[in-house]
Amino acid sequence: MANDTVTIHNNATGEEFEFPLRRGTVGPAAADISSLYKEAGIFTYDPGFMSTASCNSAITYIDGEQGILRYRGYPIEQLATKASFLEVAYLLLYGELPKEQELDDFERVITRHTMLNENLKDFFQGFHHDAHPMAILVGVVGSLSAFYHDSLSVHDERHREISAHRLIAKVPTIAAAAYKHSIGEPIMYPRNDLRYCANFLRMMFATPCDDYEPELIAEKALNLLFILHADHEQNASTSTVRLAGSSGANPFACVAAGIASLWGPAHGGANEAVLDMLVEIGDVKEVRRFMEKAKDKDDPFRLMGFGHRVYKNYDPRAKIIREVCHQVLEEVADVNNPLFELAMELEEIALNDDYFVERKLYPNVDFYSGIIYRALGIPRNMFTVMFAVARTVGWVSHWMEMMSDPNNRIGRPRQIYCGPDQRDYLPISQR
Ligand code: CMC
Repeated sequence: MANDTVTIHNNATGEEFEFPLRRGTVGPAAADISSLYKEAGIFTYDPGFMSTASCNSAITYIDGEQGILRYRGYPIEQLATKASFLEVAYLLLYGELPKEQELDDFERVITRHTMLNENLKDFFQGFHHDAHPMAILVGVVGSLSAFYHDSLSVHDERHREISAHRLIAKVPTIAAAAYKHSIGEPIMYPRNDLRYCANFLRMMFATPCDDYEPELIAEKALNLLFILHADHEQNASTSTVRLAGSSGANPFACVAAGIASLWGPAHGGANEAVLDMLVEIGDVKEVRRFMEKAKDKDDPFRLMGFGHRVYKNYDPRAKIIREVCHQVLEEVADVNNPLFELAMELEEIALNDDYFVERKLYPNVDFYSGIIYRALGIPRNMFTVMFAVARTVGWVSHWMEMMSDPNNRIGRPRQIYCGPDQRDYLPISQR
């Protein structure tokens, strides 16, 4: 029997089936059971995809046991401290860090796509003033497919690239416009002389009456948070984008599906939920009581910002954010921020608690990100929107990779049917 295979033994029939093991550059091997049903007549059952690889990908590598995250081979710690967000976006999209001219050209292309079609702006008026900005984002990003169908042959590589550029450029404009709509202020146009993050901050905080010069610390913090959130391989929202795109759907609709998936509190909605939780806890004295609630299986309360499907070690992004959090709070003169103190206390207690130690539950990226956003003046209901702006780069990179993969097939999981067996229709009078 070859070393690079696995054998499945069916104890019911005594049959054995051999399947190849596939290996990537690094990381565990995967048993290729794609022919299992054809050969053995059985499916695999893996709710939540605990042990299932759905694709090959050369974009992001995570080792959850060691707490390692790399984009295209580069450690996140190096990119976070040395690169700009658009440099990282280029890396994720095209596979290599850009040379100077390539970065200049990329920045120019993205900048020149930031404006929205004037008619698209009317969409915002249809939303109630207190609509959640994520609700607006899902709707308006989806509607881009109605505006940019001129370059929408998903089988044309250049068309795919134009759509990817449009999404990276326009999602921040839509995100800022969603915020402006929610506070009843006029939507701000993007400015082509500003860098990506500075432009975003300006669209959020300037008005036609008062311009706004973003502080360098705010721009730097945003750049860092966007880099940390840019991609995270096959998470729920990215897998949603891939699954939606596997049918040949247009990328704007696929990314809208990704935004919907990101919204939940178990995923991108966690940063908003962390802040809600810190405010609810309110005082260091209350931490123990909430810890008990988090451990009580009859209580739905969970420690938000803790735990991760893949990381069974400190999330490397959380480690970077924790350090920066202190710096940002110091520079915006908010160093005695009680929520930050509360978060550090909570972290300390949880990291020493048997329940969290045994289950390898560590703070994740979103444990501290909300505190930084808050210090930058970004309202709580915009936190997940910020995540979506950054993750758009990951979504389109995966969509581009999938669309050029010759092995791409429509995603179609199987099920174990547990409903009634065949039965006969009864006329309504006899039921
Ligand atoms: N508080 C209390 N208990 C927890 C927590 C938590 N935050 N997270 C996991 N557990 C327990 C869980 O009850 C289970 O215990 P037991 O084995 O006794 O049944 C065990 O730890 C394993 O958890 P799980 O729910 O089976 O793990 P999962 O991989 O299905 O879920 C998770 C991962 C991130 C959804 C979950 O840890 C969670 O809900 N965390 C809080 C929400 C959060 O912070 N999400 C952001 C994730 S990072 C940003 C992103 O990439 O989206």
